Amino acid sequence: MKNKKFFITTPIYYVNDAPHIGHAYTNDAADFIARFYRLSDYDVFFLTGTDEHGQKVEKAAKKANMHPQDFTNQVSEAFLKLNQSMNFSYDHFIRTTDQKHKQYVQEIWERLVKSGDIYLSKYCGWYSVRDEAFYAESELVDGKAPTGADVEWIEEPSYFFKLSKWQDKLLQLYQEYPDFIMPESRKNEIVSFVNGGLQDLSVSRTSFTWGIKVPGDEKHVIYVWLDALFNYLSAIGGEHSKYWPCDIHIVGKDILRFHTVYWPAFLMAAGIPVPKGVFAHGWWTNEGQKISKSLGNTIDPIKLSDEFGVDYVRYFMLREITFGNDGNYSRSSLIARVNSELANNIGNLAQRVISFTCNNCNATVPNPGFFSEIDGNLLNAAYNLIEKMTILIKSYNLSEALGLIVRLGNHANEYISSNPFWEYKRNNTDRMYTVIYVLLEVLRIIGIALQAITPNYAKAMLTQLGIEQAPQFSSIIDAKLIPGSCIGPAVPIFNKL
Ligand code: MSP
Repeated sequence: MKNKKFFITTPIYYVNDAPHIGHAYTNDAADFIARFYRLSDYDVFFLTGTDEHGQKVEKAAKKANMHPQDFTNQVSEAFLKLNQSMNFSYDHFIRTTDQKHKQYVQEIWERLVKSGDIYLSKYCGWYSVRDEAFYAESELVDGKAPTGADVEWIEEPSYFFKLSKWQDKLLQLYQEYPDFIMPESRKNEIVSFVNGGLQDLSVSRTSFTWGIKVPGDEKHVIYVWLDALFNYLSAIGGEHSKYWPCDIHIVGKDILRFHTVYWPAFLMAAGIPVPKGVFAHGWWTNEGQKISKSLGNTIDPIKLSDEFGVDYVRYFMLREITFGNDGNYSRSSLIARVNSELANNIGNLAQRVISFTCNNCNATVPNPGFFSEIDGNLLNAAYNLIEKMTILIKSYNLSEALGLIVRLGNHANEYISSNPFWEYKRNNTDRMYTVIYVLLEVLRIIGIALQAITPNYAKAMLTQLGIEQAPQFSSIIDAKLIPGSCIGPAVPIFNKL
């Protein structure tokens, strides 16, 4: 029985539009982390899905001349397909139009009414449909939302959530749990927002109908963010699930406020423990330009994967930029990154060592002799890889964690330069066997680590090393290569772009 659990989520995506690289990026990160924890023997639950209610989706459905339910069925399918085709290992795909979710949100609503946190009044103010967010007059910049989105004035009866009441409790939460908001650099903007004073939040709308009805007052639909955030609980069957509290919500920087102010306030009001942490990543630009539909420069992650290979796109997105920072996509940087770190480094290493073993060691793992200091150094670096990666992944340094695999590949290539095994063939076969054994072990560990990020290539590499079952990290020490076991046939992997 696994006794360590890990619950990780992505945002649920609005179905007003087709999936793009921003969506693929968050899921890529969550998938890498989820796989890494599974390989470390955690009981992992990885949740993703679609956010299907609200005015924005209703508008998009109208534009497509479809009933919102048919429309959301169709677009939600595209997000499901994205997850499948990019090999994202989600455990559950939630849709907010699921009956179970709708019921759960209504139960929560009733709880919040009972606790005195929801009351009826009237909302007069600005609203942005694109952001699905309310803005105070003071937040507007040149008549627009601070995000640049259009706003409209609305006046309608509305239920309010007593957000103001939770200001001190929120500040206390940020102080007591320094990892609640990550990265550190984003914490200040949230703390100063809350310090600036919180107004009660409008949590129902009456001017459209596409949403979950307010129990007992069906003219109102529940505000889409109150509906959406509770997906993280409805998906696991509520707060008594073994997976709650959530270990990490991965979100984009634009929706950090919803996750670190509104969400914990809703939870505290409902008497539910808050999640352990929220990590906000940055935004991608395309060849230096902001990505937007109107500029026509959105990047379709499935097309990208069809062209370059799923594993390469998965690797590139996480390796290219420090998790938490903004970054830029360009074809040339994808090609350069993959060629130098995967093809020329690891692919080349695997090909050389495995084909040499096939041709000169009877296609079997040779018997190593005595390990010299230089052998020991390389082996130790390999055996310590996962421990070092774990430290970086726990602090969400995903790019650096991948960099450690590359470094090990470099180390092995340097080792080859000073231990030319093809020369030992003539006069020192004992040494040749030892060097090959060391290199095969290093490849085994690289292959095991790569299962979290490039699962297809990792599997191909492990198969060539005679390892058929997907090995857990614990097997690194428990299941070293056994002399005499079969290697090959050598098939090139990590081909150059
Ligand atoms: N439905 C809400 C989330 C509800 S979670 C309870 C939502 N959906 S969204 O579809 O608009 O955006 C989802 C995510 O995509 C956000 O985390 C956002 O940061 C991310 N991205 C959108 N464009 C992006 C880039 N260009 N680059 C990286 N991520 C981007 O918000």
